[in-house]
Amino acid sequence: MAASATSKLLVSDIASVVDHVPSNYVRPVSDRPNMSEVETFGDSIPLIDLQDLHGPNRANIINQFAHACSSYGFFQIKNHGVPEEIIKQMMNVGREFFHQSESERVKHYSADTKKTTRLSTSFNVSKEKVSNWRDFLRLHCYPIEDFIHEWPSTPVSFREVTAEYATSVRALVLTLLEAISESLGLVKDRVSNTLGKHGQHMAINYYPPCPQPELTYGLPGHKDANLITVLLQDEVSGLQVFEDGKWIAVNPIPNTFIVNLGDQMQVISNDKYKSVLHRAVVNIDKERISIPTFYCPSEDAMIGPAQELINEEEDSHAIYRNFTYAEYFEKFWDTAFATESCIDSFKASTA
Ligand code: OGA
Ligand code: NI
Repeated sequence: MAASATSKLLVSDIASVVDHVPSNYVRPVSDRPNMSEVETFGDSIPLIDLQDLHGPNRANIINQFAHACSSYGFFQIKNHGVPEEIIKQMMNVGREFFHQSESERVKHYSADTKKTTRLSTSFNVSKEKVSNWRDFLRLHCYPIEDFIHEWPSTPVSFREVTAEYATSVRALVLTLLEAISESLGLVKDRVSNTLGKHGQHMAINYYPPCPQPELTYGLPGHKDANLITVLLQDEVSGLQVFEDGKWIAVNPIPNTFIVNLGDQMQVISNDKYKSVLHRAVVNIDKERISIPTFYCPSEDAMIGPAQELINEEEDSHAIYRNFTYAEYFEKFWDTAFATESCIDSFKASTA
């Protein structure tokens, strides 16, 4: 390895000078992507068309949500209302951000997981043993006016485009939350009302080409800590979901979003819906960009299973204790994917 590679903060700047994966990125043999065992064809993840959600066919679409959320926890959506042009512009400013010079990018670097705008690498460099082949820009984006002044000001359209994208995706999420509440048999604003003032974070994930993709991950298997994630990905495959004991590649379909439920949805639904294990792999010749929106409670929101879902059956009980989202989120970063999820440490003592 070139000596200079070890002093680089970002994997983008290592990737461009190495022909082998540096040793701190190499996974133990028992924990590698093993691509020959991944299902890479077919359409195993439900696709929900939102076109009819507000028409006479709503009950049918709500049923599709119930099925997708209880059996998969992962689905794709089309006719989602986020304009194609905004999606294109968001992907472009994300790519342009990462194509800037190293000196321009590293201005935003921080390993402090509490910062509300920061560029970093891997997952949590201060806690993890093996690094991941990923750089990411993470932004808090609701309410926008609280954070927009912190966001990168280059490329010049970054703030405007990102604000427009975040606003549009938020409107979509609120629609999804109503449908999901109804699919649980709850009044439609039930889930939304548990989130305090609401929170919304975004990441722009940048996965550079990797000389030995079979040895490392872009992101190892994990579950998202937030409530619901709406993922935009470019045309390069890399996302995989764990279903029925095997990893399944979710190949990109233009103008669809991938939606996955996170830990808070599992808690609020008292395990009726599950947060699902997923990961990102990298490849030898193409960079890949994905842009997840992590919709979440505000930090002060008190989260716990919805009472209506507990009293429903005689012998049901709350599987999780109540906690603030701030407490959960801190645990998530501290755990650093050492276990696949930190949800078990929030179980009620009687559960
Ligand atoms: C994430 C994530 C998947 C991807 O950022 O939490 O799961 O395809 N990303 O980049
Ligand atoms: Ni994730």
